[in-house]
Amino acid sequence: MGEVIVKLSEVDTIYEGEHLPAIKGINLEIRQGEMVSIVGPNGSGKTTLLETVNGLLKVSRGEVRVFNVDMSRDPMRARKNIGYVPQDFISDHSVPFLAQDVVLMGRYGKLGLLQNPRKVDFEIAKEAMRLVGVEEFAHRPIGKLSGGEQQKVMIARTIAQEPKLLLLDEPFSNLDIDSRKEISEKICRLHEENNWTTIVVTHDLFSIPKRCNRVLVMDRGKIVAEEDPESVMCSVKSLTGFYRGLRQ
Ligand SMILES: Nc1ncnc2c1ncn2[C@@H]1O[C@H](COP(=O)(O)OP(=O)(O)OP(=O)(O)O)[C@@H](O)[C@H]1O
Ligand SMILES: [Mg+2]
Repeated sequence: MGEVIVKLSEVDTIYEGEHLPAIKGINLEIRQGEMVSIVGPNGSGKTTLLETVNGLLKVSRGEVRVFNVDMSRDPMRARKNIGYVPQDFISDHSVPFLAQDVVLMGRYGKLGLLQNPRKVDFEIAKEAMRLVGVEEFAHRPIGKLSGGEQQKVMIARTIAQEPKLLLLDEPFSNLDIDSRKEISEKICRLHEENNWTTIVVTHDLFSIPKRCNRVLVMDRGKIVAEEDPESVMCSVKSLTGFYRGLRQ
């Protein structure tokens, strides 16, 4: 087993202006090379957990360490190596950036302040677009692409970043069934080739990538179960039944 990449100890996160924590008592260890899926019904705390891992949300209690960096002290240092595809990140038609510029933004963390992208950065961005199948949109404004096309561009941007830790929040939600399968397989292949550590959040149990090592189940802000992927798929007769079972 590889070294511990993500470690949460007794973590609570409370949103500003709220009294109750959105996630509470979270203990989690994820090692290098693991692919972990997080499932759970709407509002169970999946996005909050991801944003706590990447330091976008401050913890109210406990500690988050990523690459052994305390995220309450130096989140920027760890974040350079964290690729994040946020949930439903859709640009409206007024956003002027071309799809290829958005993908190139994935390279900015690798560049010094005010340094222009190098030839190699353009090449990596182009290759990421090819991998995800969005080269044909390269010269179109991101805001004029469909939801699924934009989601693919955001995935390409994260691939171009060459992260060590990948956080994907419902990355397939806007994709059609064929694209879902294709992109999921590509992410799994890249995960293996690059020895990424990957967390995939999904409320859709059928979107759990086949190669993932563990499935964490969240409910009402807590991790309530840990399963292996096959047993989740076998025990699921209906999604609502599965989640209802958690509450009994
Ligand atoms: N900015 C916010 N301020 C206050 N409460 C919030 C905020 N964002 C989320 N919450 C609350 O925190 C809880 C967890 O939300 P979260 O977005 O993490 O759920 P989720 O599991 O990602 O749900 P979904 O499947 O709908 O994406 C919910 O009760 C939600 O209402
Ligand atoms: Mg969410």
